[in-house]
Order: sequence, then C-alpha cells, then structure tokens
Amino acid sequence: MASPLLGLLTLLLLQPMELFAWQDYKDYKLYELKLEGAVEQNLVRKWSQEKPSWDFHEPSRNASSLKVMIPPEEADGFIETLRSYHLEYKVLIEDLAPLVRAQRAENLKKKLLIQWPHIDVLAAFYTHAEINDYLDSLPARFPKRVQLKQFGWSYERRPLKVVTITNGDGRRNKPVILIDGTVHAREWISPSMALYVIQQLLDNYVDNQELMLDYDWVIMPVVNADGYEYTHTVDRYWRKSRRPTSNPDCIGTDINRNFGYEWGHDEGSSSDPCEAIYRGERPFDQPESQVLRDVMLHYGGRLNFYLSLHSYGNYFLLPWGYTSVFPDTYQDMMSVADAGAKAIIYSTNGIYSYGSTYYVLYPTSGDTTDFALGVVNATVSMTMELPAAGFQGFDPWVSHIERLVTESWVGVRAMAAEVIRRYPA
Ligand SMILES: *[C@@H]1O[C@H](CO)[C@@H](O)[C@H](O)[C@H]1NC(C)=O
Ligand SMILES: *[C@@H]1O[C@H](CO)[C@@H](O)[C@H](O)[C@H]1NC(C)=O
Ligand SMILES: [Zn+2]
Repeated sequence: MASPLLGLLTLLLLQPMELFAWQDYKDYKLYELKLEGAVEQNLVRKWSQEKPSWDFHEPSRNASSLKVMIPPEEADGFIETLRSYHLEYKVLIEDLAPLVRAQRAENLKKKLLIQWPHIDVLAAFYTHAEINDYLDSLPARFPKRVQLKQFGWSYERRPLKVVTITNGDGRRNKPVILIDGTVHAREWISPSMALYVIQQLLDNYVDNQELMLDYDWVIMPVVNADGYEYTHTVDRYWRKSRRPTSNPDCIGTDINRNFGYEWGHDEGSSSDPCEAIYRGERPFDQPESQVLRDVMLHYGGRLNFYLSLHSYGNYFLLPWGYTSVFPDTYQDMMSVADAGAKAIIYSTNGIYSYGSTYYVLYPTSGDTTDFALGVVNATVSMTMELPAAGFQGFDPWVSHIERLVTESWVGVRAMAAEVIRRYPA
C-alpha cells in the first residue's frame, strides 16, 4: 500500500518547482465579448484553437456575450484582433491578482475555524485531502448507513473515494443515484455541492428519508483530484487533469472529453494537448476517467440517475453531446429536468435551461453523460451546470456557497424524487 509519504515523494519528483510557485494572475485581464451570432462564435472557436492562452469561457449556443481571461503579455494583440474584426468588448477586470489573492486569503482564514474532521460545507472550500479526511470519518459516525470505497488513484497517486449512503435497512441492490463532482478542477462549487448532498442525506435524514427508502445514493465529490489540488496550491483557474501530454509545454487532459463513447470527434473535442478541451491520446487514458468509468460500471445494472456537477451556467444538460440527434428516452429525461427546473423557479426564481448538450450548449464528444447513457445504460443521465458566482463565474466567494448549494439542492432533490416516482424499485 502506498503511504501519504510515498504520494508526496512522487509529487516532489514529478514537479519540484511548480509545487511552490503560486500563479498570482498579476495584470491578467477579464474581458467580455459581445457575440452577435454564428460568425463570432466561429471566430471564438478558431481563436481558442490558435491561442490556447486566451482562456475563453466556452460560449453556449445563442449566448449574447462571453468572458475571456487574457495574460498581460497578450493583451495588446488580443485587442488588436478584436478591433480588426470589429468585435465589441468591455474590460470587466483590469488586474485579477488582488481578487484571486483576496479569495484565497478569505478561504484560508475561514478554515482556521473548522473543527476537523467535522466540516461545515457552507463555511469554506476544502482541498481534496480535507474532503478525504471528512469522508474517512463517516463510516464510524454512520456505521449502518455509510460505506466508503476507494476505486483507484489519480495520476499523482491521490486516493479517489466514493461514498455509498443508504437508509441502513440492509436491503441490497436498490437502484442507484450516482453523483460526481469536480471533473473540472476550477469549478469549486461542485465539490461543495457534492458534500452538501452528503450532509443532507446523513445529517438531515428526517427530512430526506423517503429519498433513501428504495434507492441508494453513491457520491464521488472529487474526480479530478490532481487538478483540484492544483487549483488550491498553484493555479486557481486550472481545468484539466495534471498528467503530462505529448507536448512538454501543455499539461493535462479534459476528463470530460476522455470518455469512451463516440470519443474523438473534432466537433466537440480537440486533439491538441494545449487546448482546454483536449481529449487525450485514447479514450480513458487518464486514470481519473478510468476510475469514474469503473464506478459507473460497478453500479451498471441499477444506475437510474447519473448526475455530474459542474459550473457554471444554470443548465440541465442531457445526452447527446456528440450529435444533434436525440436519444430514444429524451422525453423521459426531459421530464426529470423539468421537475428540477420547476422546483428551483418556485423556490428562488432561479432559471435553468435544459435539453441536450449539443442543442443547448455546444457539441461535446467523449463526455461522461454520453458514456453513462450510451454504454452504462443509465436511465437518466445529466450534467448540472450550477449558477455562476464570483468574478469569472466558477469562482464564488465563500459567502456565496450557502445560496448556491441550498438552491441547487432544491433542484437535485426534486429530480431525485421524480426519478424515484417514475422508476420505482
Ligand atoms: C437559438 O436561436 C435560434 C434562432 O433564434 C432558435 O431557433 C433556437 O431554438 C435557439 N436555441 C436555443 C437552445 O435556445
Ligand atoms: C447496455 O445495454 C446494451 C444493449 O441492451 C447491452 O449490450 C450492454 O451490455 C448494456 N451495458 C451494461 C453496462 O449493462
Ligand atoms: Zn465543467
């Protein structure tokens, strides 16, 4: 068995320098572009291929604007390019550094108050190691209701853990609701939401017990453990995994383009390791994708609801991502999304759009929801894009956590109830 020390040693051997160099984002700028239509969308697509250092937040179909983060040395060239195409833009933030610094300080300060291993989900953002400590504490607190399994390791040898929550009645092989988080490293509200769901099911059992009467819940709060840890220690805006690629200048693969169903389409993923949507050399060549695949397959015959937590945008995204064609069970899945959207609008006026990823957002190839439906035969397969918060959208302040997770729980709870109603055990 590998010890934490061995893990640390591996890490040190792999990247001796980067461990200590915090990316401060000095003079990085955030712009907002106005998008008039397909022409601008195609330009953005072209630029994200040619200029991987221009960090475009991917535009959804019909979006009227989008944000892009630009390094200081690229700012002049970027503006010149926009002008040459007569694109309208505005500067949202002149220098990201003070904001990144303030958020980091806020979070570290909040964590001084935590009584480990109990964690208050609403009080801070936690690292992968802290989340694992918390998960490790659960079986002792809920011996009849919690099972903790390690399904594998990340590339940098971090243990990837999955918690199963039941009502403790000992009935086996109930249908399963599987929730994962943190496929994309910088989407910090995602692990917070996964932890909040765990706490609702365990600590708020009385209010939620009917959700566990005939169904078990399986939750994996952090899939991309290395990338997520990297956002805490080095680069707050890292998205991909941390495994080196064939290009020494570009590290990491987009785990959400690395899954083995209709993998490798150029519409919806990239073969260029420098791009944000790099799909890898082969399907499942990332250890983290393999682990999530194995979790899905482990519950294969009884996976009634697969839900992947991302941010941001207020979307319920269904298969398919790789084609404009709709799956046979599309209307059934839409009914579940509809239940979530209605519950949220009644509770907070929050508005979600829903439909197939291809149609609502943009084409994706090799994403987790297409695999869950296409290969694992999940009854309902969905990505939930939680609301934007913070200055970029995926960087909420600690003070935003409560609003985001309580609203999102209303939706998840309603969708779970709808799945349970439509597909009784
Ligand atoms: C996008 O806009 C077009 C044209 O107005 C419309 O037909 C289509 O339904 C819109 N798509 C979405 C997902 O809103
Ligand atoms: C999904 O369904 C197909 C077609 O019925 C079947 O061949 C396949 O084995 C199923 N996959 C799993 C993981 O059960
Ligand atoms: Zn994401």
